[in-house]
Amino acid sequence: MISSARVVGACLAVAGVVTLLLLPGAGREAAAQSDRDELVAQGRDLFSTGCSSCHGTDGRGVRLADGEVRGPSLEDAGEAGAVYYLTTGRMPLANSNEVPERKQPAYRDEEIEALVAYVGSLGSGPKRPSVDLDAADRSEGGVLFRDNCQACHSATGAGGALSYGRSAPSLQEATPLQVGAAMRIGPGEMPRFSEEQFPDEDVDDIASYVEYLRTPDDRGGVPLGRLGPVPEGLFLWTVAVGVVVLLCVWIGGRRHEEPDQEEAA
Ligand code: HEC
Ligand code: HEC
Repeated sequence: MISSARVVGACLAVAGVVTLLLLPGAGREAAAQSDRDELVAQGRDLFSTGCSSCHGTDGRGVRLADGEVRGPSLEDAGEAGAVYYLTTGRMPLANSNEVPERKQPAYRDEEIEALVAYVGSLGSGPKRPSVDLDAADRSEGGVLFRDNCQACHSATGAGGALSYGRSAPSLQEATPLQVGAAMRIGPGEMPRFSEEQFPDEDVDDIASYVEYLRTPDDRGGVPLGRLGPVPEGLFLWTVAVGVVVLLCVWIGGRRHEEPDQEEAA
């Protein structure tokens, strides 16, 4: 017969183990939240020294008495907007009439992360895009690029003049993250490519194609005579199977050897 004291004891032990297992999870979540808060606070500091003269201390923009806008409100810029303007060095501007152009970023990566977190916290603008080239379909990206980007950025991504407004820049230096951010925000005369019309997979495909335009000879992966991904996969497969076969032969060999050794002993 199991005594009730034992049952209670066992229950308490189980409850204890479950609590111990769950506690670190809850702790991690709280820690992640406080890391996030700290990053936003850091971003707010950087913003107040580097951006608030034009965008306002609260990021809602600065409009002078005569109607002149020093800088627009960033409430809807989102993380994606901050990623685009900061990683391409377009912000900060030296004065409000300067045309934002690609240049060396003014901030270090950690500072950009903080500013992105802060600008993202101002409203519900587009999130930082998570571009994943591993699963991307490059030829599908080529089709989408020709249909949606080529008219302005040219077939080779070299960019070109537009019949109105600023010219479309070259994509030679655009990283996959910048391609994603540009599509989600639609900077300047560029249209916005929404998630409804262009799901994340489309962005991945296009970013992968832009990557190819930047380095047309590099088909990705280890350059095994630049044979491309399929022969590379085959190559790895062959090596892996070869190793397995060798291992089998070796193990088989040992089995046969063992009796010999016993005889010798
Ligand atoms: C000298 C003024 C000035 C400073 C300083 C400045 N900006 Fe700007 N910013 C502007 C102007 C003007 C625009 C509009 C540019 C345009 O498209 O013509 C702009 C646009 C932006 C946009 C795009 C807004 C949108 O939704 O279209 C973002 C994001 C941005 N700035 C972020 C920043 C950040 C972050 C900083 C600080 C690191 C900064 N800016 C510093 C003047 C400034
Ligand atoms: C109507 C013309 C137009 C179309 C269509 C267009 N763009 Fe753009 N694109 C622009 C302009 C103009 C800019 C510069 C905006 C600014 O002032 O920051 C730009 C900027 C960019 C940048 C930033 C480049 C850099 O290095 O600074 C990227 C990346 C980009 N576009 C990718 C795309 C992709 C991908 C597509 C198709 C899905 C596309 N664009 C479609 C006009 C266009």
